[in-house]
Amino acid sequence: HGTAKVNRLGHLEIGGIDTVKLAEEFGTPLYVYDVALIRERAQSFRTTFDTLGVKAQVAYASKAFSAVAMVQLAEEEGLSLDVVSGGELHTALAAGFPPEKIHFHGNNKSIEEINLAIEKGIGCFVVDNFYELELLEELCAAQGKKVSILLRVTPGIEAHTHDYILTGQEDSKFGFGLENGQADSAIATALKSGHIDLLGIHCHIGSQIFETTGFLLAAKKIMAKLNDWKAAKKFEARVLNLGGGFGIRYTSEDDPIPASQYVEEIIAEVKNQAEAYGLKMPEIWIEPGRSMVGDAGTTLYKIGSRKEVPNVRQYVAVDGGMSDNIRPALYQAKYEAILANKALEQPEETVSIAGKCCESGDMLIWDLPLPKSSSNDLLAVFCTGAYGYSMANNYNRIPRPPVVFVENGEARLVVKRESFEDMIRLDLPLKEKVRN
Ligand code: LLP
Repeated sequence: HGTAKVNRLGHLEIGGIDTVKLAEEFGTPLYVYDVALIRERAQSFRTTFDTLGVKAQVAYASKAFSAVAMVQLAEEEGLSLDVVSGGELHTALAAGFPPEKIHFHGNNKSIEEINLAIEKGIGCFVVDNFYELELLEELCAAQGKKVSILLRVTPGIEAHTHDYILTGQEDSKFGFGLENGQADSAIATALKSGHIDLLGIHCHIGSQIFETTGFLLAAKKIMAKLNDWKAAKKFEARVLNLGGGFGIRYTSEDDPIPASQYVEEIIAEVKNQAEAYGLKMPEIWIEPGRSMVGDAGTTLYKIGSRKEVPNVRQYVAVDGGMSDNIRPALYQAKYEAILANKALEQPEETVSIAGKCCESGDMLIWDLPLPKSSSNDLLAVFCTGAYGYSMANNYNRIPRPPVVFVENGEARLVVKRESFEDMIRLDLPLKEKVRN
């Protein structure tokens, strides 16, 4: 997919660059992003809205992969940006992203985070709970500023996905209950405020979703409520944000629909409902993370040791693991991989790819058919662009790998590799070192 192909040497090439060369130049493990593919994804979302003539904001959910260069790429592609913490907000601002196109999420924003966001004039707060609503009013008053908000609601939809990434159901830590009166009272509070401009409603029903049903159901429920609120002369929403969650293909077991189809069906549903109720068509905002960057990322690892459990399994270990990709350990996520330096060779054996962390659960892929491999071969694991680097950690004090953007035959380092020195950068000694 994307610009990935096999070159004349039988090596995997991405963005016009031989991955074997990338591994030589930048070392392994290495996150490689196919920039052209990210641009294509961004443009496809935007074109779908444009073609249908619907006012929209496509906000890239930066939690999927936040880095200064990525934020700048999002800006180049005309995207808005969803941030969920002071750190993501700081990254966006440091990248020079226009504050008015930043949407600030989170179920427990701190006073410092809220103050920073107000001060910088960010475009929209997605308010999650009553505590935040009060705090925001107070902090805006103190700064003498006004902010725009959406209220995040939980419409009671159970998207078919992994339990840990299910958020739209009523028993969730996120948002105001749509049907238990919480959303009604939040709206009333927001409308009374002199410092808050209530733009509309937000919901996010889950992640890695393969069907449109959940989105359409959520849209329907919210539109019905919007109608009640309008009828009661409370307010008319200008914005309906239906979150992210569009699924991608990690392995051949996954069968997602094209991202544009989610958008088309959502728009059709909201239009229908708006017409039926005689409501103004709201702007539609979405927040794709995974579907923007997921399949654009590939992780390159060097193969090291091998262990055979006779008659059971061959473990083949790589120089990374759950420290750079925690998703298999956390969600039993599945990935596909090939030998990047032997991309044309046929599979000869089935091996299981182990990470190097001291933890039995640190397995990246079980039962992967591969050509005969030996140490120093290069393993390319596909679709690691979302929630890979962003969830990377220093377990076992393993430095996080660097990130390289490739496009049109050029490679650009956008995040440096951490060093051993970085591992102790924040440590303070108990006493002076006695030995070297
Ligand atoms: N908007 C909101 C409010 C969200 O909570 C999320 C993801 C998104 C947008 C973007 O969703 P996406 O389009 O990326 O599915 N760490 C998990 C995924 C957690 C998703 C959290 N929220 C994983 O690796 O699968």
